[in-house]
Amino acid sequence: MRISKSLLALGLGAILASTTFAQAADDKIVIGFSQIGAESEWRTANTNDVKAAAERAGVELKFSDAQQKQENQIRAIRTFISQKVDVIGFVPIVETGWDNVLREAKRAKIPVVVMDRDLKVSDDSLYVAKIGTDQVEEGRKAFRWIDEYVTKNNVKPRNGGKTINIVVLEGTVGASAAVGRTKGFNEALAASSNKDHYKILASQTGDFTRQKGQEVMESFLKTYRNDIDVLFAQNDDMALGAIQAIEAAGLKPAKDIIIVGADAVKGMFQAMIEGKANATVECNPLQGDLFFETCKKILNGESVPKSVYVEEGVYDASTAAEVFPTRKY
Ligand code: AHR
Repeated sequence: MRISKSLLALGLGAILASTTFAQAADDKIVIGFSQIGAESEWRTANTNDVKAAAERAGVELKFSDAQQKQENQIRAIRTFISQKVDVIGFVPIVETGWDNVLREAKRAKIPVVVMDRDLKVSDDSLYVAKIGTDQVEEGRKAFRWIDEYVTKNNVKPRNGGKTINIVVLEGTVGASAAVGRTKGFNEALAASSNKDHYKILASQTGDFTRQKGQEVMESFLKTYRNDIDVLFAQNDDMALGAIQAIEAAGLKPAKDIIIVGADAVKGMFQAMIEGKANATVECNPLQGDLFFETCKKILNGESVPKSVYVEEGVYDASTAAEVFPTRKY
């Protein structure tokens, strides 16, 4: 921790007493950031944004890529502690398992700011703030879009049965982006007046990657080729992988099977423009500016909200071509 000597000399120590952290006015802020990896187009956009925002903020960024392993993130956080960085930022790959390492950061008086995914800790004071997206709401939005589309277009089950059959490609097991989207989707389905009109046939992880999305969709199609009406992929990369599997099975994506993804990355816009996907629920990766602004406020002893969600929308094929040129990721 670096406490501004000039502030202390001015007898303003009492002001800082209410907060644990303070920023040196004279030297560059050092921020350690543990990213989870590069599993998706979204993640690449998030990493690029963090790096560019660090430059804009004029801070020194120590960036670490955990290659999808929680133990690598824990190791990176311990390294940041030993390097005595000013703030530690990280994206929790999964919700649980952070208490010990965050206690170590707290003991070292290094504030922690969480980005993107949520975490569950026994004591909320183990992190100062969280910047991210409302992943439960993203799941709700996905179901609501499907329900509205099915109702408006009077979509009938392909197999002639009574229910619109849905398959779900889930994200990384234990990740809040998967847990939250599943929860929100199921909640909105249960709350719908049309709930008996839908059935979830299968739900399995595709680990947020294009390749696993394709593989799991291939296996869904082996069992349910003529029964699937809707795919909800919890990210666009898995949706794009699934589109390949659907085409290889001789079916038409977005026509035989309604495809809804999450993220709103450019690749999904292209698929919508080509008529191969129907909709995507936005998950905004541009969280870097807010992250560094929050870090600076914490170091200045200012209060910050415990949790901030960035804004996001829902996009579908009807406006994809028009919206595409405005997309930043
Ligand atoms: O945590 C955000 C999710 O992680 C994005 O939806 C996904 O693409 C990424 O891998």
